[in-house]
Amino acid sequence: MKILFVASEAVPFVKSGGLADVIGSLPKELKHQGVDVRVILPKYEDIPHTYKENMKTAASFDVHLGWRKHYMGIQMLQHEGVTFYFADNEFYFKRKGLYGYGDEAERFAFFCRGVIEALPYLDFQPDIIHCHDWQSAMIPVLLKAHYSHLSFFASIKTVLTIHNLKYQGVFGRPLLQDLLGLSDDYFSGTALELHGGASFLKGGLQFADRITTVSQTYAEEIKTPYYGENLDSLLRYRSESLSGIVNGIDYESYDPMNDPHLVAPYRDSLSKKQLNKLALQERLGLPIDGAVPMFVLVTRLVEQKGLDLIAYLLPELLSLNAQWVVLGTGEYGYEQLLRDTAYTHPDKLSAQITFDDGLARQIYAASDFFLMPSQFEPCGIGQLIALRYRSIPIVRETGGLKDTVQSYNEDTGQGTGFSFSNYNAHDLLYTIRRALHFYSDDPDAWKKIHQNVKKSDFSWKKSAQQYIALYKNELN
Ligand code: GLC
Repeated sequence: MKILFVASEAVPFVKSGGLADVIGSLPKELKHQGVDVRVILPKYEDIPHTYKENMKTAASFDVHLGWRKHYMGIQMLQHEGVTFYFADNEFYFKRKGLYGYGDEAERFAFFCRGVIEALPYLDFQPDIIHCHDWQSAMIPVLLKAHYSHLSFFASIKTVLTIHNLKYQGVFGRPLLQDLLGLSDDYFSGTALELHGGASFLKGGLQFADRITTVSQTYAEEIKTPYYGENLDSLLRYRSESLSGIVNGIDYESYDPMNDPHLVAPYRDSLSKKQLNKLALQERLGLPIDGAVPMFVLVTRLVEQKGLDLIAYLLPELLSLNAQWVVLGTGEYGYEQLLRDTAYTHPDKLSAQITFDDGLARQIYAASDFFLMPSQFEPCGIGQLIALRYRSIPIVRETGGLKDTVQSYNEDTGQGTGFSFSNYNAHDLLYTIRRALHFYSDDPDAWKKIHQNVKKSDFSWKKSAQQYIALYKNELN
């Protein structure tokens, strides 16, 4: 089975969010399970030099974009056994950062079209093109409109995975019509039209053979107006073709037994884990105390992640007998609030307003509790890493958080974390207090929770099997 992943980011090359973690790790497991999976990404300036210098040119050709033609080179690199292709055009991709430029529509229209055109040159005829998020979602539309009459492309199926429905790639219709060379029919409300413009994601949702998203709960949620981002009726309409497969994480990379960033390797021993807490307290200038419970957030500092709840509760959180560590960047208001509060409460809060993978791993290892009170969460990766590093997640019951964290029930002894259902600051506070109670006053329950966590498995193994079953189903 031959699968081409098309995405706009992947670890370790470039990352802005969880999408990069998925694209950087799922292919490895698919490959391991016998799939010939390859990945194509834009060749951004930000890709570290060590990778760039080992890339080899695999093809070069011109891509039609409206009435113009633009050069595209394809470079190739083997990484951990997987073939990665990089679509190169210096005008479009040799810039700082990944997104946010005024000609976003043009850059990703070029990318989508170029990926299709590249295939004959690469002599790679995938059974399925698996697109991820809006940046590659125009591929199913273009295949149908411009390529389906050509025998090379006629049998290629498409899968589109939604990692976050909020980002839809909506642009002016005249612009997209010009760039993509699509007839008027493609711009009706039952095709690409959205909010008066035209949307990459909506196009993909209309034309992909299969749609998936990154948890079962999110697959249900997005069919409702509250989570549907104005696409819920389309998703209900495509319900038969829509399913959820939960994300995993790379269990080799995220392994506290084998993580070079940690001072003390451990797997299940909480006393060894605690050495990492002492080291982090020292590094961040917090009072050194192995017994004090440590709560952490490793996240983008935006409302989606529940930062408004945290901001509202800050005074109460700081009055608890606990330490807090926050790592991440995001909205200026939250960054400032956390910086200021850390300044006035240096013994309680450390705010690391940056992104630093090594420090993130030290924080997972050091912490007792990991907070993720998201408004919505397609899957979430942080809680999976937290479970692997034996930091007990406290989450809101939405999307993948609901599917991966089971709230502790003292009657049955089941559960790997703590959760609350209403998006409400006091429900969160109550849940934090409840979690703290088990940590401080109920060692048996605390032990039980850790035993349950030990049994959890969020490696890619099972989810990769589900993707393979879905591919097979599509090809029959
Ligand atoms: C997006 C979602 C997140 C998900 C990730 C990878 O970042 O917000 O929930 O885990 O994509 O699928």
